[in-house]
Amino acid sequence: MRRSFSERAACIEDLKQLARRRIPKFAYEYLVNGCNSNCAVNSNRQALDALHLFPRYLTDCPESSLQCELMGQTYAAPFGVAPVGLSGLIWPGASASQARVAHQANIPFVLSSLASISIEQAAELAQENFWFQFYPPTVKEISTDLMARAWNSGCRHLVVTIDVPSAGYRPADIRNGLSVPPKISARNIWQSICRPAWSLATVRHGIPQFASMQPYIPADADLGNVAHYIRNTLKKVVDMSTLASIRKQWQGKLIVKGILTAEDAKRAIAAEADGLIISNHGGRQLDAAVPSLQALKSIRSSISRDTALMVDGGVESGVDIARYLACGADAVFAGRAFMYGVAGLGNDGADYTAALLRRELQQVMEQLRCPTIADLPRFLK
Ligand SMILES: Cc1cc2nc3c(=O)[nH]c(=O)nc-3n(C[C@H](O)[C@H](O)[C@H](O)COP(=O)(O)O)c2cc1C
Repeated sequence: MRRSFSERAACIEDLKQLARRRIPKFAYEYLVNGCNSNCAVNSNRQALDALHLFPRYLTDCPESSLQCELMGQTYAAPFGVAPVGLSGLIWPGASASQARVAHQANIPFVLSSLASISIEQAAELAQENFWFQFYPPTVKEISTDLMARAWNSGCRHLVVTIDVPSAGYRPADIRNGLSVPPKISARNIWQSICRPAWSLATVRHGIPQFASMQPYIPADADLGNVAHYIRNTLKKVVDMSTLASIRKQWQGKLIVKGILTAEDAKRAIAAEADGLIISNHGGRQLDAAVPSLQALKSIRSSISRDTALMVDGGVESGVDIARYLACGADAVFAGRAFMYGVAGLGNDGADYTAALLRRELQQVMEQLRCPTIADLPRFLK
């Protein structure tokens, strides 16, 4: 008899190990690594591990609730799916399953500009929980069109990522040929053959595409040309004037992702952002980056409660989510954890990952004797 998901993967680390055995090495290394020497990935982890919470056993506490109010919307839990580009390379159909689950579980789903499903598909699946992550294009018409497509399909949350002024230096991807232009080597083909579930799913779904960008890519572009086109079409530096022009056009909630300092937080607020995501891009851009947790602590004390403060980086359990919330985050996002779920268990793994994080967070809240997520900061000392 086939073992249940919880017997096969009782925690995110188990999902990660399943993913390692189920997808080709080049895809796994694309997902798991940060940049350079992986210092920023490790320091996100170390900062979270070092944060302790203090239970209050001898206090009265009603049943703990995970409900979360964020920028005027009520979610069932204070965590969501972070944007992940080239999601179809990691697991074919990953973003579609995650978007569907976000709607069912009532949590936010952020679609990457570079994901393998389009704005329209994500909107249909995630519905009111669809957020769009925007790498502003250099061509004004494309920029305007992408925002209009997001808005017209019902998206009301635009997440502008500011932390990619240069491409992250990722040695594993360079070794594996995941560069611009990509190289299909005998080694990659062999790694794919060794992972039949991934290969079959890829054959069923087709080669992963940058689905939202597809209408703008020249029809005759081959794999190498597409990669060059994408790199040249998306702005590297997002400056204050880019933010100002996006703010002018976007009527919904504007969220700036990639904030690591109080100064940038204040600049984004001056540009009329409704929310900030404190993030070092999962350690994939600057290997010497401050851990998200440390940045969160200093930024929380520098800005008012009017701006929604969200965070991501290194979430591997409900305990990690509680740690971020205790340090003042209003909500938390996870990138790799959700990807390990689908890569390890197939598309049903998206639902399982959300349920697992929920269950772990609920357990921490009950253990602390904490009634609501807004109360978590009281358990820091
Ligand atoms: C494989 C991969 C691809 C990513 N692609 C994007 C992207 O297209 N846009 C973006 O804003 N962030 C991207 N990120 C960063 C995530 O949104 C998020 O900041 C990060 O994954 C959080 O860390 P965690 O994976 O440890 O949870 C990516 C992360 C990974 C792991």
